[in-house]
Amino acid sequence: MDLRGRSFLKDADFSAEEFSAVLDLAGVLREEKRTGRERRRLEGKNVALLFEKTSTRTRAAFEIGAHDQGAHASYLGAGETQFGVKESPEDTARVLGRMFDAIEFRGFRQADVEMLAAHSGVPVWNGLTDDWHPTQSLADLFTMRDHSARPLSDVSVCYVGDAANNTCASLVCSGALMGMDVRVAAPESRRPTRVAWTTAAALAASSGASLSITDDPMAAVSGADFLYTDVWLSLGEPEELWDDRIDALLPYQVNEALVAATGNPHVKLLHCLPAFHDANTGIGKKILEKRGLRAMEITDEVFRSPASLVFEEAENRLHTIKALMVATLHGIDD
Ligand code: CP
Ligand code: NVA
Repeated sequence: MDLRGRSFLKDADFSAEEFSAVLDLAGVLREEKRTGRERRRLEGKNVALLFEKTSTRTRAAFEIGAHDQGAHASYLGAGETQFGVKESPEDTARVLGRMFDAIEFRGFRQADVEMLAAHSGVPVWNGLTDDWHPTQSLADLFTMRDHSARPLSDVSVCYVGDAANNTCASLVCSGALMGMDVRVAAPESRRPTRVAWTTAAALAASSGASLSITDDPMAAVSGADFLYTDVWLSLGEPEELWDDRIDALLPYQVNEALVAATGNPHVKLLHCLPAFHDANTGIGKKILEKRGLRAMEITDEVFRSPASLVFEEAENRLHTIKALMVATLHGIDD
């Protein structure tokens, strides 16, 4: 298998075999790092990290992953480049492609990351757009694989909450690609986008995945191996929407009652982070004052419970993003 030169703009860009191979490589790289035997496969490479939106995990994973592998990463933050304001995405792509070996992009428009891939001539990695968050699902499926005795095609995951966002779009598509039992519990107003759902349905048709959606969270989670949730308001959405989102999504909060409704004593919890599980954030404080809520999409008890894999999942961003860089710049096989 040869992934050199390939971009990763959305989950469906990789076949199931390719997606699996990147996860396998992530396992090898994690082991090398843990045992102090990491081999530098990206020596002499330069990667651009172009961010229009804020980030903790994704930026850290690309920077440390590149450094561990001997590559140099240049962080080009929001408002620090000419991108989109004084220079078109196409022109920026042509310039960066002449200086860098690859480009990571986190921003608003999916069209922009596609433009970078079309005109840079180098691999482009989507570090989150309004539509997709595919490097997140690499870490999510890696984490689920690690915590399942059965193959992913025998594992169920239920996404609960704001299903109209990028994280859910990527989870349903990557889960469908890998033949999983993928369930969504969301209100009518926050269902996955048409593009995400039709893509997932097409992937499920060829992989044998099961795909279902309901507005009944208690029914959806029954028997699930993993519960997944994400913030109710995504980067770039106006704060004025908080009230409507809370009203629509409070019945979908991941709390002890919902965990109990799985009927699975071994159920595990995932969240891409950052999470509003307490009031120790700027937004969390405002919501506590205004709405009297200490937590939103996931309660503190559940977030901190032994069933929660969220910090391991966050660490896995590093191993999987590093694997993506190695696979597309150096090659999947040693
Ligand atoms: N999960 C994730 O993408 O986190 P950051 O926004 O901190 O990168
Ligand atoms: N859906 C969230 C994911 C953050 C990692 C957002 O886009 O803000």
